[in-house]
Amino acid sequence: MKMEMERQIGIPNRNPAVFVFLLLLVSCQLCSVVSWKKEEFRNCNQTPFCKRARGRKPSSSSFAAHDVSISDGDLTARLVPSDKTLEDQDQIQIKQLILTLSVYQDGILRLRIDEDPKLDPPKKRFEVPDVVMPEFLSKKLWLQRLSTETIGGDASPSSIVYLLDGYEAVLRHDPFEVYVRKRGGNRVVSMNSHGLFDFEQLRVKKDGEDWEERFKGHTDTRPFGPQSISFDVSFYDADHVYGIPERATSLALKPTRGPGVEESEPYRLFNLDVFEYIHDSPFGLYGSIPLMISHGKSRGTSGFFWLNAAEMQIDVLGTGWDAESGISLPTSQSRIDTHWMSEAGIVDAFFFVGPGPKDVVRQYTSVTGTPAMPQLFAVAYHQCRWNYRDEEDVEQVDSKFDEHDIPYDVLWLDIEHTDGKRYFTWDRMLFPHPEEMQRKLAAKGRHLVTIVDPHIKRDDSYFLHKEATEKQYYVRDATGKDYDGWCWSGSSSYLDMLRPEIRSWWAEKFSFENYVGSTPSLYIWNDMNEPSVFNGPEVTMPRDALHVEGVEHRELHNAYGYYFHMATADGLVKRGDGRDRPFVLSRAVFAGSQRHGAVWTGDNSADWDHLRVSVPMVLTLGLTGISFSGADVGGFFGNPEPELLVRWYQLGAYYPFFRAHAHHDTKRREPWLFG
Ligand code: NOJ
Repeated sequence: MKMEMERQIGIPNRNPAVFVFLLLLVSCQLCSVVSWKKEEFRNCNQTPFCKRARGRKPSSSSFAAHDVSISDGDLTARLVPSDKTLEDQDQIQIKQLILTLSVYQDGILRLRIDEDPKLDPPKKRFEVPDVVMPEFLSKKLWLQRLSTETIGGDASPSSIVYLLDGYEAVLRHDPFEVYVRKRGGNRVVSMNSHGLFDFEQLRVKKDGEDWEERFKGHTDTRPFGPQSISFDVSFYDADHVYGIPERATSLALKPTRGPGVEESEPYRLFNLDVFEYIHDSPFGLYGSIPLMISHGKSRGTSGFFWLNAAEMQIDVLGTGWDAESGISLPTSQSRIDTHWMSEAGIVDAFFFVGPGPKDVVRQYTSVTGTPAMPQLFAVAYHQCRWNYRDEEDVEQVDSKFDEHDIPYDVLWLDIEHTDGKRYFTWDRMLFPHPEEMQRKLAAKGRHLVTIVDPHIKRDDSYFLHKEATEKQYYVRDATGKDYDGWCWSGSSSYLDMLRPEIRSWWAEKFSFENYVGSTPSLYIWNDMNEPSVFNGPEVTMPRDALHVEGVEHRELHNAYGYYFHMATADGLVKRGDGRDRPFVLSRAVFAGSQRHGAVWTGDNSADWDHLRVSVPMVLTLGLTGISFSGADVGGFFGNPEPELLVRWYQLGAYYPFFRAHAHHDTKRREPWLFG
């Protein structure tokens, strides 16, 4: 509660009268039960691209694949709208798209759909860099030939290419549909079988057009107009679907709409700092991994991954949702249909044939990378609290573990250890001898972790801010000025982590020379990297903020924390001249985060429901590549009763990442305090 109050009064207003008013307002709010502030966040109906896409009916648009051929080892085609309302040939020309299908070893099919660069779009749409492994690209199978035939009762021909022994990929031409099937037989995964595909192209604003979107006093200027993409994906012989973290919900994803289904919001993928999240909701939390895995007893497992970092919403559709569409798909196979909607970017999708769960995980991690091998100490027990106050407190806690003979390997320092939330510094009153403190821990084989967040205090005397300003390394707002948002450090700016040279500059900051007071036994915690911005729309950065080469924040939002985590982990590698394995914990995640370190599930609560939901949360992260994760043992908010704490330790010992943590308003709860 106090943290929420601090966040609210943290809004940049130094007028004392306003301060007192806000304090009163917030204290009044505290009279009621404080929990998830639903109204701070947009729902699908308040999100125009989601509302539009969700309102679409099967077969509401249709595109046909023209000029299908093999080029540079890929299958390529032009996707031309067969929309009867587009009578004007020019309009049809402008709306056509380029489709590319590529095949990789181990039965992986990649589908890309983008605007045609020859048609001169107002700008290049964003493709997420540095996620696909370079080694994966070298596993491309160069397609040589294409066979074309008319399948089943189709009215148009299909082009078929080899995928893997026993599997093939099919592109039906009109209306276009892509699917993977057993050779000549049952389907595995398909895309656009219900004709929900839609692709809003970038436009140049005409006089009088109003594209702005408003939410809770924030305006998104949307300079290129609506640019969303949506389509349906079907999984065959499937009993359940899993994946698409991060959210507090069951392991098997429940349908979100359809006959007899209690309609809910779609599953949202938009990295947000969600204060006091609830334990059973499709609402997206701090991380987004757009990988869905299906499993069924009869055939096994398959997967679908959409490499896209913009806001995404996904519906899992209950059987019969398409009853009136007139579409007939193979009835001999059970099926789960899903609807994928994203605000921006391109289609860059991967189909995984499985057929076992391990096969899908192997196929997915061959695209995005395997988890970093953690150092031994990192898989042991970690003791954290917001905050261990000073060196004496650290020494006390450390010695109590010995006194009670409780094993622990790592002690953590939260934001209060810094000089005014200027990361890479120490509050020298509280921590006058950081090196000595670390050496004492290290003498017992223990490590220290300090927090380094992405908000950089806008203080001209702070070396990091000075340098970043001079070098023009900050994300810009829509008017071109350094973006200024509010976080723990007050008025703050955020580095443009999309730029590799900024990431390497950041990495240098972790050298022992630059990070004064750090020693080889110190490792790092990246928090608030969604990024969290207390006075921003939905507590994050505005979507029209600008990154390098005019990339809008909306296009890469879900990957911002990933690049920050990557740069920090690189810093620890560089610091040890490549000899040391890094340890960096991150709150925000994206596909590929497993290569850079551990992840935790954020600010949970000290109650039994949160203990329970931590299991599917950690398992889902594991299924989507992030095997090194855990939840705050004991629950971050609130005070656990002894029985709950004991049970949480018992469970936590089996989390891959095992750390107790607590909010500063809670009672001290080091394990020996409970008898
Ligand atoms: C939010 C994090 O989720 C929490 O673990 C941390 O203690 C606070 N920020 C303060 O840094």
